Amino acid sequence: MKHFIAIADYSPAELRHILDVARKLKDQYKKTHRNDHILADKTLAMIFEKPSLRTRVSFTTAMTHLGGTSMYLRQEEVGLETREPVRDVARVLAGMCDGIMARTFEHEKIAGLARYASVPVINGLTDYSHPCQAMADIMTIEEHFGSLAGRTLAFIGDGNNVARSLAVACGRLDMRFVLASPKGYELPQSDVDRIMSQVPDMDFVTTADPYEAAHDADVLYTDTWVSMGQEREKEQRIKDFAGFCIDENLLAAAPKHTIVLHCLPAYRGLEISDGVMEGQQSRIFQQAENRLHFQKGLLAVLMAGM
Ligand code: CP
Ligand code: NVA
Repeated sequence: MKHFIAIADYSPAELRHILDVARKLKDQYKKTHRNDHILADKTLAMIFEKPSLRTRVSFTTAMTHLGGTSMYLRQEEVGLETREPVRDVARVLAGMCDGIMARTFEHEKIAGLARYASVPVINGLTDYSHPCQAMADIMTIEEHFGSLAGRTLAFIGDGNNVARSLAVACGRLDMRFVLASPKGYELPQSDVDRIMSQVPDMDFVTTADPYEAAHDADVLYTDTWVSMGQEREKEQRIKDFAGFCIDENLLAAAPKHTIVLHCLPAYRGLEISDGVMEGQQSRIFQQAENRLHFQKGLLAVLMAGM
């Protein structure tokens, strides 16, 4: 029994396996509009402390297509650490369900669920990381280019949860990772050190110049400048991130073959222009759809032993 809390907990071969299963399930669904019911009678509990569109819908739909069921549990009802300790919730859910997916503010809460649950626990985003997003992104990149090794992903923006997970995913799958952030919004050195200790030979470059990052990027990636929970910093952040928008000028500085990704939700005119988002090089909606296909691969491996 394995959890999916951090990409670093998985070897390149294990990640490759999940991606391969996801690919097979996607192909099967595209051809027949149906998947085998490998999760028949299984239930996934989904706890959300923060809002969600993609994560909630992709896990719900993935469970349905694989023959199982899911339940959406709001923090207001469950009360992780307010109504009940995490370790009690973990054991109660494990007694009734076959898997737990949770989106929490504090990373410690998902780690606590994993410590105490005897069923797989999946990280559906914390303040620290967003591994399911990063792996769906990797799936999208591989689909587009046909390969991963040696490709460069340039993340333009905040050194946040998505950036951390992408850095490790790139490292594990032999891709270069370039992070361009304004001063004060870089990944903390302790995080860079941790990532480098997890993937010692990875090519990880940081810069404060988005144009430098773009010039040899195969993938230009961005995320909101104001993550969930940072709403009070919004005005300051919008000022501090000036010049870090993926717009037509920045895209023109990248190679012609570069694709643009964004985990969504996007704020047009801030971190990405409307023209780039809707343009020829955007693969953003294919990327969003791949959340569903990657979740299927992950659930199949964790809950059906594929
Ligand atoms: N990208 C992502 O995780 O979207 P949601 O917050 O809507 O789930
Ligand atoms: N960094 C963003 C990602 C949203 C999917 C956030 O945490 O709000």
